[in-house]
Amino acid sequence: MKILVIGSGGREHALAWKLAQSKRVQSVYVAPGNGGTQRDKNLINLPITEIVELRKWAQKEQITLTVVGPEAPLALGVVDEFRAHQLRIFGPTREAAQLESSKAFSKAFMVRHSIPTARYESFTDPRLAHEYVKTHGAPIVVKADGLAAGKGVVVATTLKEAHDAIDFMLSQEGTGVQHNGQARVVIEEFLEGEEASFIVVSDGLESVALATCQDHKRLKDNDQGPNTGGMGAYSPAPVVTPQMHAKAMREIINPTLKGMASDGIPYSGFLYAGLMITKAGDIKCLEFNCRLGDPETQPIMMRLKTDLVDVLMSATQSQVNPTKSDGLDKTSAWPGLDVLELDWDRRPSLGVVMAAFGYPQNPRKGDAITGLPQDNEDVMVFHAGTSLEAGTYLSTGGRVLCVTALGGTLKMAQHLAYATIEGIQFEGAQYRKDIGFRALQGAKH
Ligand code: AMP
Ligand code: GLY
Repeated sequence: MKILVIGSGGREHALAWKLAQSKRVQSVYVAPGNGGTQRDKNLINLPITEIVELRKWAQKEQITLTVVGPEAPLALGVVDEFRAHQLRIFGPTREAAQLESSKAFSKAFMVRHSIPTARYESFTDPRLAHEYVKTHGAPIVVKADGLAAGKGVVVATTLKEAHDAIDFMLSQEGTGVQHNGQARVVIEEFLEGEEASFIVVSDGLESVALATCQDHKRLKDNDQGPNTGGMGAYSPAPVVTPQMHAKAMREIINPTLKGMASDGIPYSGFLYAGLMITKAGDIKCLEFNCRLGDPETQPIMMRLKTDLVDVLMSATQSQVNPTKSDGLDKTSAWPGLDVLELDWDRRPSLGVVMAAFGYPQNPRKGDAITGLPQDNEDVMVFHAGTSLEAGTYLSTGGRVLCVTALGGTLKMAQHLAYATIEGIQFEGAQYRKDIGFRALQGAKH
């Protein structure tokens, strides 16, 4: 089989690394990939990003399965484009991807299908938005309606921050965050609790959950500093007990898949629910992402023992119409997701992101990276913002590396990840020293 992974981040490096371990696979292409995927002898970088070009290339090369990493190509309709040409692709259609690309869509969806979420209203008129904030007070959360690369959510602790966020998001010059040509904000109640990332693989009807994970969104230790795409993650997340797991499936994932299907936009792909677990033991869905998390994917893939190709072939099985001669492989029937059981390494894993100087506001590019270790079964350095030029790795901005380790305990995984980081250098590297702290604090009690 030939497989194509679309994207260039740490998530895509981890996905491609895992897919390439399958015995069924002949080659894994990563479009456009990064310095780490370029170096990996099992992976091939493909310098194409435009959707129609990718589809044409996949047809020419007879790619068996395409897996989409980031949200942007999904929101642009890459899945629709591939499917229209009978190419097997794992990810939601453009319409289904609105669960992430439009906060207003996903909030209305959750309310319509009684999926627990923060109370909210959505606004296009700044005057009404300001009034709402005045009435409800701070803390309060203001979210831009549209993909904003992590910059679209302001958790305002004061009224001034909330008013400023509204002005910024609804002004003409604002963030450029728009959905269908309209600037809109969602304002919602502030929820307190512990967050966890809950991700499933769905074929549109059935789903199977991946190992749980917890991300660290703030730049600095002890959850201080600005929000980022994620500075580190570990798996499993002890806050998701077996009871919470069952509750998340029952109250959030299953009604979402059912609701999307009954609304006529069945959701297939990775579905990521950002959960808030309150002290009282309630679960609310903060947001949906229509893709895997980054950096969550890196520790999750380190623990996955099941062949990911089998899982994704099962999840895309319904795309294959056996009555049509469309060139797809119909010789093997893949089991349904409902009967799949994923096998996980019992050891916890933990990934620490090394980000560029100036990240997240103004990341610098072009710093040379030295001291990268040999990867082994217990430690992987997944690349994100890197390129490989004349034998030298250069940072290309944003999150640069995710140093991910497995350990007999979470503490051991943490120790191994940080010991590995000690040897890696690039000018201005920023990383948190406390990834995993919540779970480790919890373990002391
Ligand atoms: P989102 O992109 O909607 O997940 O928001 C990004 C981050 O903002 C989340 O991971 C939370 O840490 C925080 N956040 C979002 N919504 C809320 C809320 N209603 N209450 C408290 N924190 C929130
Ligand atoms: N790490 C959070 C995300 O991928 O959205």
